Amino acid sequence: MKKGSILGPAKSVRGEIKLPGDKSISHRAIMLGSLAEGVTCIKGLLDCDDCNYTMRAFRDMGVPIDVIENYTTILGKGLRSLRRPAGPVNAGNSGTTMRILAGILAGQRFEVMLTGEPALSGRPMNRIITPLSLMGTYITSLNGGYPPLRMMGGSVKAIKYDMPVPSAQVKSAILFAGLYSNGVTTVTEKFKSRDHTERMMKYFGADVRVNGLSVSVKGARELKSRAIEVPADISSAGFFMVAASLLEGSKVKIRNVTVNPTRAGIIEAMSRMGAHISIDNRKELFEPVADITVEYAKTKGITIDESMIPSIIDELPVIFVLAALSEGRTVIKGVKELTVKETNRIESMKHNLSKMGAHIKTSGSNVIIEGVKELKGASLKSFGDHRTCMSMAIASLAAKDESVIDDVECVSKSLPGFFDILDDLKG
Ligand code: S3P
Repeated sequence: MKKGSILGPAKSVRGEIKLPGDKSISHRAIMLGSLAEGVTCIKGLLDCDDCNYTMRAFRDMGVPIDVIENYTTILGKGLRSLRRPAGPVNAGNSGTTMRILAGILAGQRFEVMLTGEPALSGRPMNRIITPLSLMGTYITSLNGGYPPLRMMGGSVKAIKYDMPVPSAQVKSAILFAGLYSNGVTTVTEKFKSRDHTERMMKYFGADVRVNGLSVSVKGARELKSRAIEVPADISSAGFFMVAASLLEGSKVKIRNVTVNPTRAGIIEAMSRMGAHISIDNRKELFEPVADITVEYAKTKGITIDESMIPSIIDELPVIFVLAALSEGRTVIKGVKELTVKETNRIESMKHNLSKMGAHIKTSGSNVIIEGVKELKGASLKSFGDHRTCMSMAIASLAAKDESVIDDVECVSKSLPGFFDILDDLKG
């Protein structure tokens, strides 16, 4: 797919797919594998731009990481074993890399700069600077609260921290830093965000306790290396789930997807909208996984409350698309966090969907979408954002005529094979 790609309407999508590994779990597997002692073997690590930045950062800090086909082997040398990199650590356009890595670097005794691509310089970093500073780390932004960051870790104090915004990246940064303290660090959220860090830290032998909306971690001497199989990413699955739900005659089965309740908001929201979803073959590894099948169904608008937002945050753009073609009104409450993703996703989706004839407006931090009977083709913009791009590709399948979208290469941030998978499903 090249710049100015044409996206045509499709009659239906049908088939069975196996999607690449979950992005959030892949980042954490690289991080914990690098900090554990011994060989961690990962099957199905996601090969995408963001995870590759995380992998490069650890290689630059002296961790041997080998990738052979679908298997990644990491020779971890311990929590305090990272070496000062020769230059700045480049997080690319990955907020997850920069924010969680800062928590790990809080425990390393060297000075380091964290930089990224220009697109990353719009991502707020005070949300990690504040708690990590409270933990005794020297960490500062060279750009008024945005990247690049300069930091010097070493001795970490355990803290109790109430998070002002529900964010798994911030929670994870604090928990990783907490591993380097002498005490127990506790983070409390207003609403539960994805818990992959808690689960995987426990799996690697850390003393992690969860009590409702609070998570505590005890300072650790060492983590044990493990074998990990990364399940398919529900955020990638979401695009194909919505496509199958929208197009008459469709049926798509997606195998081995993470159905972790802190990520499964899309299943709940689509089901309440009337989508035809079945979940089979549930397995409980260190993450719960299952096969998800979605068939075409007529859908209706619903209200999504703020408490549910963290479990559906990355799938909201494609939910906007479904809502645009569902009967009645969808109200999504308290979605301010969507404005600080790879782009302002409320604005990017509103711009594109409005051009296609959808009725979408904002009121404070709420988004209100009135369903329409059909969308028309239009000239669309990805805004360099993978999820805006893929969501609009799904909207174009359901439109009555062709659309054109710019800069589709951005899908490589999380799902480089997106357009090929879509072509296969279109048959
Ligand atoms: C992620 C957490 C979420 C999510 C992002 C991945 C993670 O971000 O939107 O795509 O892997 O921890 P926030 O922590 O900013 O909510």
